[in-house]
Amino acid sequence: MAVGLCIQVATQAHQPVLSDLRRQVGWGAGGLEGSFLAVAEGRQVILIAEYDGGPVGAVTVNLTGRPNTPPRTGHISDLLVTPLWRRRGIGGSLLRAAEQVIRERGYTDATLDVEASNAVALHLYQRSGYRRLRTIRFPWGPGYTLRKVLVPEPDQSSFSLLRWLGVVR
Ligand SMILES: CC(C)(COP(=O)(O)OP(=O)(O)OC[C@H]1O[C@@H](n2cnc3c(N)ncnc32)[C@H](O)[C@@H]1OP(=O)(O)O)[C@@H](O)C(=O)NCCC(=O)NCCS
Repeated sequence: MAVGLCIQVATQAHQPVLSDLRRQVGWGAGGLEGSFLAVAEGRQVILIAEYDGGPVGAVTVNLTGRPNTPPRTGHISDLLVTPLWRRRGIGGSLLRAAEQVIRERGYTDATLDVEASNAVALHLYQRSGYRRLRTIRFPWGPGYTLRKVLVPEPDQSSFSLLRWLGVVR
């Protein structure tokens, strides 16, 4: 059994675990078959956080791209930490792990959607470097799509200098 915080990539076998985690934060578990099909097809990665071997949180990374979003963008969704384990940095750790998945796939940007009224999540995302891309409307209220550049474009002026010096072509 792993000791301390361990974040692992979920497989089909984790479906009951994820279902239970979602139930603990008041979210439905419908559609999980579709999510795990997307996992099997490489369109999605689900990460599960465990503390001393017990599941405490999860996050999903969607790698298929969405309309009106810059190319090579991974979309982070369904970040959750069970109530007893909040405010210990686990949400932030899951977010960083999701960003690492996006970088490893060669993508450069991350987006996520958040309800305007979700002060805790907004605080976490803004503190982690996410900035507002656009205002959106969930069926139940207003929200934002936030974006973070994970791999900055190379600075063209530095490139010109390096080219002039003959360091790059
Ligand atoms: C959002 C969520 C994942 C954060 O998980 P977490 O493990 O508590 O996150 P962290 O401990 O890494 O960070 C939480 C941050 O919010 C801050 N915070 C906690 N309660 C807060 C509050 N009531 N108001 C403002 N900020 C608050 C913490 O101080 C911390 O920030 P800091 O590190 O700058 O002090 C968790 O609250 C959750 O599962 N919420 C329900 C599901 C949800 O809303 N998910 C987001 C969907 S977009």
